[in-house]
Amino acid sequence: MPNTPANDRFLRALRREPVDRTPVWLMRQAGRYLPEYRAVRAKAGSFLAMAKNPEIACEVTLQPLARFDLDAAILFSDILTIPDAMGLGLHFVEGEGPKFRDPVRDAAAIAKLAVPDMETELRYVMDAVRVIRRELDGKVPLIGFSGSPWTLACYMVEGGGSKDFARIKALALNDPKALHALLSVNTDAVIAYLSAQRAAGAQALQVFDTWGGVLSPAMYREFSLPYLTRIARELQRGEGGERTPLILFGKGNATHLEALAESGTDGLGVDWLVELGEAARRTQGKVALQGNLDPATLYGSPDAIRNEVRRALDSYRDGNNGSREGHVFNLGHGMSPDMNPDHVAVLVDEVHTHSAR
Ligand code: CP3
Repeated sequence: MPNTPANDRFLRALRREPVDRTPVWLMRQAGRYLPEYRAVRAKAGSFLAMAKNPEIACEVTLQPLARFDLDAAILFSDILTIPDAMGLGLHFVEGEGPKFRDPVRDAAAIAKLAVPDMETELRYVMDAVRVIRRELDGKVPLIGFSGSPWTLACYMVEGGGSKDFARIKALALNDPKALHALLSVNTDAVIAYLSAQRAAGAQALQVFDTWGGVLSPAMYREFSLPYLTRIARELQRGEGGERTPLILFGKGNATHLEALAESGTDGLGVDWLVELGEAARRTQGKVALQGNLDPATLYGSPDAIRNEVRRALDSYRDGNNGSREGHVFNLGHGMSPDMNPDHVAVLVDEVHTHSAR
C-alpha cells in the first residue's frame, strides 16, 4: 500500500513544504451535525457501538469526505478507548457525556493500572484504521489520534467530564507522586497506542491535550508538558526515513508555544485565543501550525465565515514571513451537533480559494 496519498497537501504542510493551497480538515468533522451520521447512529444504537465496529467506524469516517473537499480523514473513535481498555468501564449517559464506572482516585488504584494490549484489547481501533485505509484508497491521508496523558487522567480521576477539575487538582496538590505514576502509565499507553495506529496505517498522528489549559503555567510544566515531550521524542525514535508527522493539539496552550515548539513535534494545534500570526512569530518556523478558527464562527452567515477564514489565513501568512507554508487550517476545537453542514462547505471553499490566490 503506497504511503503517499494522491492528495498530500496536509502531509506536505506538516513538513513545511510548499503546497498549492492550504490544507483543511476539522476536528470532530464526523458527528451528529451530519444527518447521515445520525441515521447510522440510530441503527447502531450508541456511539460506542459505532466506534467498536470497524465497518461502521469506517463508514462515518468517510461521511464528511463525501460531502466536503477535505484534505485529511480522521479515525472515528474516541480518546477514552485507552482507559476503557484499562478496565475503568466507559459508558455514555445521554446528555451528560462520558462516565467511568471505576474511576481511579488514589495511589492504590493507580498502581493497578497497566498498558493495555493493542492488538487484543484495542484491536477494534487498529482494525478500523486498516479498513479505513483500504476504503480511502490513497485519496487523502488518515489521521490517528490519542488523548494526552493529562487529559486522559482528568477523565480517569474525575470519573467523567468536569467543570472545576477539583479531584485531579487535589491529587496534584496532595499526592503528586501518585499523579505522576498515573501520567507515566498513560504516557506508555499513548506511545504504544499511537505506534500501533501508525503500524496499522495511520499517516499522521494527533494528541488531544484538551484540558492542558486548565492548569496554571507551573502545573502545566509539571503535569502535561514533560509527558507530551516524551511522546514526541519516543515516537520519532526508531522511525526510518519517512516519518509519520505528529500534531500536539492543546486547548489554551498559548502560554507554552515556545516550549511546545521545542518538544520534537512536527505540528502544533492552537485554539482561537491566540492570533495565528503571533503563534507563527513565536514558534519561528520550528513547527507547522494547525488551527485556529473559533468553532462558533460556523454559526455566522456565509459571508461572515468567509471573512473570518481570510483573516486567519492572512494572520498566519503575516506572522510567517509572508508565506502560507506550514499551515494546516482547522478550527480551534471540535464541531458541535447543532452546526449547519452547508456552512462547513463554505469554510472549506474559502480556505482553498483564498489560499490559492
Ligand atoms: O474529529 C473526529 O471526527 C474524530 C472523532 C473524535 C471523537 N472524539 C468522536 C466522538 C475525536 C477526535 C474525539 C476525541 C475526544 N473525545 C476528545 C478530545 C477532543 C476534544 O474535543 O477536545 C474528548 C475530550 C473526548 C471525550 C468525549 N467523547 C466527549 C466529551 C464526548 C461527547 C459526549 C456528548 O454527549 O456530547 C464524546 C463522545 C463522542 N466522541 C462523540 C463523537 C462524534 C459524540 C457521539 C455521539 O453521541 O454520537
